[in-house]
Parts: sequence; structure tokens; C-alpha cells
Amino acid sequence: MRRKRESGLWVMGELQKINKRPGEGLFISFEGPDGAGKTTQARLLKEQLEALGLPVLLTREPGGTPIGEAIRKLLLNPSFKEMTVISEALLYSAARAQLVSTLIRPALDRGEIVLCDRYLDSSLVYQGLAGGEDLEMIAKINLWATGKLLPALTILLDLEARRGLERLQKAETGAAVETWQGDRVEQKELSFHQRVQQGFLQLAAREKERFFVVPAGDKPEVVRAKIWHKMQEILTQKGYL
Ligand code: TMP
Repeated sequence: MRRKRESGLWVMGELQKINKRPGEGLFISFEGPDGAGKTTQARLLKEQLEALGLPVLLTREPGGTPIGEAIRKLLLNPSFKEMTVISEALLYSAARAQLVSTLIRPALDRGEIVLCDRYLDSSLVYQGLAGGEDLEMIAKINLWATGKLLPALTILLDLEARRGLERLQKAETGAAVETWQGDRVEQKELSFHQRVQQGFLQLAAREKERFFVVPAGDKPEVVRAKIWHKMQEILTQKGYL
């Protein structure tokens, strides 16, 4: 089963070889289990880049466009417990197709830095490696949906699944763990979230060039400094600094 699940990853490896497009903007995604702090870090990075006068677009998945935000509501609605993993995969990729063609591609074509809070690795992990659906098919659908656009850098905030969920519970309710509801995905059992954490690490191990793994258990300021260190390297490489 494990071999079958992993076999789809060859598609991503092939893509990495053909998707180098020197000269256009810089596309960076943030990934990680729920509660790892992606949204905070993406915002901090945006502020830091803007302080240098660099053009930045920050967006999120699922969402970022009116259609994507409507799909997000469907996907995260806790009352749709019967939603199949294949339906999920198709809805996430539909939102992604809209986001890439109307927001991300145009911004990259203008030479901007695009920061995306989650991208297609989330589908490979949540619907594929953790959700048990056909990884190769998910990869293919997403390559079609995105016109084969992959980030130049994927910042993976790695956090133990239980800690991530505890963080969310605290942030969202300030109340006891038992009273917390969470969205449709957050409500899944702990073992699912543990597979998510492991799934991201598995992807990162396979694509060492694209992924930058940051332990996310430290204070936000410490995590931010590590991300900035890496960013300086890539911004210099790409001629932004
Ligand atoms: P967020 O909490 O990071 O905004 O993301 C919403 C939820 O959607 C999160 O629990 C992860 C999940 N998700 C997937 O399952 N597949 C995907 O492709 C994406 C982008 C998100």
C-alpha cells in the first residue's frame, strides 16, 4: 500500500526538471500541518519584503479568488461530513486552477514575488498520502489545473500534529480543548493529522531542492529569522537583492 501511495510522486520529480522558467517572478509556497503557523509566517514575510520595496502578492488556498473562497466554504463546512476524498481533491484543484490563472500567473508575469499559503503539496498530502487516494492521479490533475506551475521554494513548517491542533484550539476558542469544534478538516482524527505531518516530510525528502523545512515549535520570531535567512539566499540568487 505504502509503495502504491508513493509511486505517484514520480510525476512531481519529472515536473521539477521541466518547470524551470528563469526570468519570471518568484513563487513561494508555505506548507505544513494545521496549526503550524503558516499564515503568521507568510504575513511576516510579506511585511519584510514590502519593507524592502519589493512587489509582493500574498494569497491563500483554498481561496484567494471569489470562486476559490466560495469553494473553500464548501470544503471546510463541518456539516458536509459525507464528502469523498475524490470530491475534495477535485474541488481543491478547481479553486487552484482559478487562482493560478487569474492571480498567480499574472503576478509572476509582472515579475512579482508571490507567497501562497498552501499549494498543491497540500493536496498530495491531505488527499493522497494521508487521505489514501491515488497520488499519481492527484498529481496529474493538479499539473493540469496549474499549467504545471510549481513553486521555486516551498517553506515547510514542521510541527508535531497534536501540538498544531492544540495551538488552533487555543487560538480559536481560548477555551478548553473539549469544547473546540474546528472546521471539517481540523475535526479529523489525530492519526490523520499525524499522517499529514509525515506526508509533508516525505515530500520534502524527495524534493530537497524545492523544500526548506523549518521546525515550527519555536517562537514565531525564531521561525521568522530562519525563513528570512533562506530568503536572503534566494532573493540574491534571483537578483531581487
Ligand atoms: P488552512 O487551514 O491552511 O487555511 O487550509 C484549510 C484546510 O484545507 C487545511 O486543513 C488543509 C486543507 N487542504 C487540503 O486538504 N487540501 C488542499 O489541497 C489544500 C490547499 C488544503
